Amino acid sequence: MEKFYITTAIYYVNDTPHIGSVSETIATDVIARYKRLDGFDVFFSTGTDEHSQKIENRAKSESIEPQEFVDRLSGIWKGVFDQFKISYDRFIRTSDRDHVLAVQDFFQKLYDKGDIYPGVYEGWYCIRDETFLKDSELVDGHCPHCGGEVQEIQEDNYFFRLSKYRDELLKFYEENPEFLRPESRYNEILNVLRSGLQDISVSRKSFKFGIPAPFDSSHTVYVWFDALINYLTSVGFLSNEERFNHYWPADLHVIGKDITRFHGIIWPAMLLSYGLPLPKQIFAHGFWNLEGAKMSKSLGNVVNPVDFVREFSKLSGISEEFSVDVLRYYLSREVTFGLDGDFRMETFFSRYNSDLANDYGNLINRTLTMLEKYNNLIIPQKGGDSTEVINFVNEKKEEYKRRMNEYAFSVALDSVFQIISYFNNYIQVKQPWKLPRGSGELNEVLWNLLEGIRISTVLLMPFMPAVTEVVLKELAAYPADFRDLEWGKLKGGLSIQKIPPLFPRLEKTEVKAEEKESFVKYEDFARMDFRIAKVVKAEKVPKSEKLIKIDLLVGEEERTIVAGIGEFYTPEELTGRKILIIANLEPRKIMGITSHGMLLAASNEENLSILVPERDIEEGSKVS
Ligand code: ME8
Repeated sequence: MEKFYITTAIYYVNDTPHIGSVSETIATDVIARYKRLDGFDVFFSTGTDEHSQKIENRAKSESIEPQEFVDRLSGIWKGVFDQFKISYDRFIRTSDRDHVLAVQDFFQKLYDKGDIYPGVYEGWYCIRDETFLKDSELVDGHCPHCGGEVQEIQEDNYFFRLSKYRDELLKFYEENPEFLRPESRYNEILNVLRSGLQDISVSRKSFKFGIPAPFDSSHTVYVWFDALINYLTSVGFLSNEERFNHYWPADLHVIGKDITRFHGIIWPAMLLSYGLPLPKQIFAHGFWNLEGAKMSKSLGNVVNPVDFVREFSKLSGISEEFSVDVLRYYLSREVTFGLDGDFRMETFFSRYNSDLANDYGNLINRTLTMLEKYNNLIIPQKGGDSTEVINFVNEKKEEYKRRMNEYAFSVALDSVFQIISYFNNYIQVKQPWKLPRGSGELNEVLWNLLEGIRISTVLLMPFMPAVTEVVLKELAAYPADFRDLEWGKLKGGLSIQKIPPLFPRLEKTEVKAEEKESFVKYEDFARMDFRIAKVVKAEKVPKSEKLIKIDLLVGEEERTIVAGIGEFYTPEELTGRKILIIANLEPRKIMGITSHGMLLAASNEENLSILVPERDIEEGSKVS
């Protein structure tokens, strides 16, 4: 089995997690789960970065020992990751004994070979970012990265001979353009390397909460030097040789764009100096902002993911466990992984309503309702030749895999939702309510729908572990992995229980539609389901001048719409007529009546005319 070792950055514990930091852990978890489902032997490491001046300062401000402080905070981080179903194999803490020993060995070895040497550091230090800064780097006397205050320091320090590795690193980068992704980050580091490297300070003398330098206990190892080594410790460096040799080098370090230089330059140089192979790839993602503004726990503009999930659960009525999945879904869907994202309540609700409630949830609910009505909740036996359906699903599955392998989650999810839309549309096209009960044709349609749900659910597993488990159990198809993506694996003949709707629609008036581009994509147009409908009954909505409630027949399906045409048509004029509607528009409540679809009409300032078929044609017919 091919191995895949994947890591997140490790998180500072000077505060509790926010949505930005959790988004990185979720993205990494999505990849780890995807690789496991795809048959890889995955090791997934995450954890907390505990030694630093800012943490020592925070502990002092609470009058407790730093170790007591980090024990409490690290426990909170781990608890949040468990709640968010982060499937880590190790949660590493830099205060773990094996890590302290690993760092000391590493530091000693580099010192022994002359790559670490004593010197004097004169310059600036940003405590918030734990970064040494040159005079020329400051912006208005502040840290150029976080805008925080900087301290002027003059200290005896140990230095790492980073400059020695510049040529080797430059050559490595030139030969390995895939080493750092996305390309913009690769180019950034290439430019830094081309303009030259200076040695860096790698110890501190003025504070105590850190790992003592093994050859000079008056120094602690610089927190970044200490933190980066976590990637080795986690898989058994110096403690479990067999495991270390199996998993190292890491296949992928997932980090944020702000720490690219540490990972793209200092970390590989440290490994070259020690004589270890370099990681295979680094992916530096973008930052989440909040409603357009920069999000940072130190700046106090954050969303607490635990509070968010609790509030969303109360509002929507779905469990906290499912709410975690909705958040995982949103973070993966809303942004192109690698670019910055904007966390907005409006888009969060519209993703929930359109993708999860209307498309995925609705497909499951409609299918199970029909299975109950037409087949007593018994999964039919597979039958019939559905080549067209199978070809479509297979094509989208391949597209999903290609996209996932490039960590392009958003478009990979788009491939899955194309399968889901395909089957929603398949219901409209096949009109199972018109097929004779017990017929082979009806069974084939029901079976195909259930199989479509099963396969799209397996594809959603990396993103929504809790929801997909429930759906697959419902179909007696859990546990599952990607070998189960083959069409035809759903077992027929089983009697199942009907689960309640997974994602009830949220009727939130403040949820507005997202801004649309000026061109509609062909796929978007193709998703609109226009139909011929027959007006069975029409009546004025009480207390309204304009609104008419219209009961329709669309094929054999009965539904109601509310239309604002009362100034131009009387209910009597409408009754018995055939009209055009858009049938898969999300239902809306208007004056207390749920309007399921919308009638099409042409209008200008003075006049309005409903659209009707030019020749008589059966209600339910598709308009395209
Ligand atoms: O940098 N959006 O820790 P950290 C997306 N301990 N990602 C974000 C984010 C946001 N708004 N805010 C932070 C450290 N992150 C060091 C790492 S690794 C050897 C040591 C990401 O807690 C950030 O980019 O400040 C980083 O990858 C991770 O969260 C931890 O940030």
